[in-house]
Amino acid sequence: MKRVLSLAKDHAGRHAHLIRILKDRTPMPLREIVLDPAFNTTRVSHVILTARDLDASRRFYTDVLGMVMTKQDDDALYLRGLEEACHHSLVLRRTGDAPVCLGIGYRVLTDADLDRAKAFFDGKSVPAKWIDAPHQGRTLLVTDATGAPMEFCASMETVPRLMQAFDKHHGGSPQRLDHVQIAASDIQAAYDFYVALGFRLTEYTAKDGSDELWGVWLQRKGNPHDVVFSNGRGPRLHHFAYAVPEAGNLIHACDVSASMGYAANMERGPGRHGIGNALFVYFRDPDGHRIELFNTHYQAIDPDEEPLRWDLSNTSRSQLWGLPATRRWFVEATQFAGVEPSDAVLRADPVTLETFLANQT
Ligand SMILES: [Fe+2]
Repeated sequence: MKRVLSLAKDHAGRHAHLIRILKDRTPMPLREIVLDPAFNTTRVSHVILTARDLDASRRFYTDVLGMVMTKQDDDALYLRGLEEACHHSLVLRRTGDAPVCLGIGYRVLTDADLDRAKAFFDGKSVPAKWIDAPHQGRTLLVTDATGAPMEFCASMETVPRLMQAFDKHHGGSPQRLDHVQIAASDIQAAYDFYVALGFRLTEYTAKDGSDELWGVWLQRKGNPHDVVFSNGRGPRLHHFAYAVPEAGNLIHACDVSASMGYAANMERGPGRHGIGNALFVYFRDPDGHRIELFNTHYQAIDPDEEPLRWDLSNTSRSQLWGLPATRRWFVEATQFAGVEPSDAVLRADPVTLETFLANQT
């Protein structure tokens, strides 16, 4: 744990250098997609957080939301969705400090892709070093353009899928990790960095009347997004999201949450996003980390499909049914370990529920 934190601090120290490297971008905000990246990232695969009480976290994620516990020891809790055959898609490491995010994990297709990734990042002077990560194969820790830690691995211990163990399904029946959203202070820099890795833009939000990017939805696995960057004080982890089988699972998760005394943990929804078309509900875990349960994403594979633009003032991009999210949903997020967030470069605020109601006559 201490070693991971020290690595994160080491990487953060070189963040300014990385940002300078990425400042050579052109004024054109949307870039050509990269169909033959230097290495093959297949999907976002896991999130590593810290938690103050692992037993409380286990009760919330398994008894309330319905996730599967693969392993718990004195230092960590390893969780996964019902259909996942990987050892973990969510890791919670014990801490006595303020809860943070230790990193976002991605899978590459082969072990050789890891070596190609190391050479790629070394060639661009992007911080990248090998680390030991329990239950994973070789793992490469990288600092992305926002300053957030990301790690790549090509293999992980496998476990049985439980998608047909219907007697074990409860809560929201989360099936698999689908995406993460990160608040970032410079969306263009984040976008440029991930496009170079082969991530493809499916939808984006721009400030009205301009091409200034407020948010980008980027994918590798063929649906709307693996990672989203939204404008704000960052880098901070806004949320991570698990897919559920049916809309009814979202409602049942809310009912179970309320009946077990976790009503206050429901933060937003159910509702439907305009961007991505997801039916959603957001929860805050016992440490304040935000998790989304959702379904009904769409397929996004063919490279000739143009990214869909949304104006920032269009509230239906975040809530198709009308009322926008509270200010709290937009501004609260989890810090990355040892990475001090900075204010957003773009000064453009979304419409919050508070401002929406204040403007009603
Ligand atoms: Fe999401």
